Amino acid sequence: MCGIVAYIGSRDATPVLLEGLQRLEYRGYDSAGLAVVASGGLKVRKTTGKVRELEAGIPRRFKGSPGIGHTRWATHGVPSDTNAHPHLDGAGQVAIVHNGIIENATELRAQLESEGVTLVSETDSEVLAHLIARAGRPDLEDSVADALNLVEGTYGLAVIDSRQPDRVVVARNGSPLILGIGDKEMLAASDVTALVRFTRQVVHLEDGEMAVLRADGYRTSTLDHRPITRAPSTVEQGQASYGLDGHAHYLHKEIHEQPEAVARALSGRLDRRFSTAHLGGLGLDARDVAGIRRIKLLGCGSAYFAGRLGASLIEGLARIPADAESASEFRYRNPVVEPDALYVAISQSGETADTIAAVRELKRKGARVLGIVNVVGSTVARECDGGIYLHAGPEISVASTKTFTSTGVALALLALYLGRIRDLGPAEGRRIIDALSEFPDQIRRVLDTEADIAGVANRFNQSADMLFIGRVSGYPIAEEGAQKLKEISYIHAEAYAAPELKHGPLALIGPEVPTVAVVPDDALYPKNLSSLAEIRARRGPVIAVTSRSDIPDVEATLLVPRSEPELAPLLLGIPLQLFAYHVANSLGRDIDQPRNLAKSVTVE
Ligand code: F6R
Repeated sequence: MCGIVAYIGSRDATPVLLEGLQRLEYRGYDSAGLAVVASGGLKVRKTTGKVRELEAGIPRRFKGSPGIGHTRWATHGVPSDTNAHPHLDGAGQVAIVHNGIIENATELRAQLESEGVTLVSETDSEVLAHLIARAGRPDLEDSVADALNLVEGTYGLAVIDSRQPDRVVVARNGSPLILGIGDKEMLAASDVTALVRFTRQVVHLEDGEMAVLRADGYRTSTLDHRPITRAPSTVEQGQASYGLDGHAHYLHKEIHEQPEAVARALSGRLDRRFSTAHLGGLGLDARDVAGIRRIKLLGCGSAYFAGRLGASLIEGLARIPADAESASEFRYRNPVVEPDALYVAISQSGETADTIAAVRELKRKGARVLGIVNVVGSTVARECDGGIYLHAGPEISVASTKTFTSTGVALALLALYLGRIRDLGPAEGRRIIDALSEFPDQIRRVLDTEADIAGVANRFNQSADMLFIGRVSGYPIAEEGAQKLKEISYIHAEAYAAPELKHGPLALIGPEVPTVAVVPDDALYPKNLSSLAEIRARRGPVIAVTSRSDIPDVEATLLVPRSEPELAPLLLGIPLQLFAYHVANSLGRDIDQPRNLAKSVTVE
């Protein structure tokens, strides 16, 4: 989703901003732009399309500092050169880039227009540039604060003024903004990914805060001018690589990184002595766990599907009633928050607006909320009472793969930990630990079958529709498989609980509609075979994803190694990722940046 980068220092800002914008590309966007302060005033370039198109249109003499840049994902107003950011005031002296939504933009536009201001774009953001110029205070930060006091909505904001080239002003409310501290230079961005190439020292602004950046330092305050002190933290990116490392797409790279990602999620967390998990970040002792009567997992999209898998792991291993709900629904239905319930927010980015809103609603009602998050220091991570970091490394492709699998593993660890405090015996605990230890290698063995999976993908890539089915813990995997296929290949895919077929979707089955069936080798295996027979009786082609090589009468089998029943569904998800990838690749899709989608959905 929209990205911001800002720079002030002795270098020319343009290449720094362009590099930052390239790092933000993975979030999804439809246009890009930047503005720098030069001796003659502001220089601005913006365009629809990719950052490389922006770069191609920038003349060699386009130099200056400070500067701000933006990648836009359209909400108000179509993607167009005019609607792209930065936006300027009428005199062309103030430039802003904005993430978020200004909810009272219509009223503010009308007010500005009645005062004779001409707005050139259809965006909600443009009003900010005019309001800041209109405030007309000697210091830019005071004008920004005045303008923001008139605004309702969410923002991550960066502002420059050609008359005050010694500063950049940034502010945050509901949309992330992170300062980067360099050597005699300062940066800011909406995502730490845009900063790590230049500095690892960062400061996370909180909602309702702003900062004035100068080349030699920064000052943070609330919008009502109360100074605040925020200690910098160091970004731990380990050996993380942001390049493609020989893969054609980030999605492919990230699917192949899963053995290492899962090994990192497990590292130091398996306690063989007591057959449990070490999860120091939870902040839950045995007495707390004994008092939990219910667990609710919340997330959006793939994070929600992972939560559904987690709920069945927790019920199975810890015998605590658990269910998952999409955070986007939960936040709007005035949920009853039970005092003896534990809530778990799942978010790779930690910046999904709906998930953050659910966490805040829960905290406001006094609930205890844990976070399962990949991005260290993100909003969900900071606002939860404790949690588990995935340590999956940066996930660049819009569609999640390695973070889905790592979340499943983190939830298995949580279920094991809770189970061992409740009724799960040590032998059972050991069984899960052994299964988890083998998991990275089992993923590797699935990845080794990629050529076979690609062959199956090529046979079915002309289908207009596909069904995905699974039962109980296989069902969220079917949902995630359908989600991967539709988002990256644009083939219509629906997931159903296998027993639901005969209550409606069986009407769709025929030779033209393949069904991808998630079939673990567990107690429900015979039931799954019956569902497949129902499909075959209607001449529907079946692609079985399973550890059994003897499933009768199927068009194709995607085979995985045998695993313990608790982990088998998660392993069955890996071939589905490769299946979606190869279908999308054979159709020439924009795999890492599918149309209309954004990596981190920071608006409602
Ligand atoms: C699908 C996908 C999305 C995200 C969802 C939540 O491949 O990636 O469905 O899972 O937008 O994102 P996070 O986990 O960042 O909260």
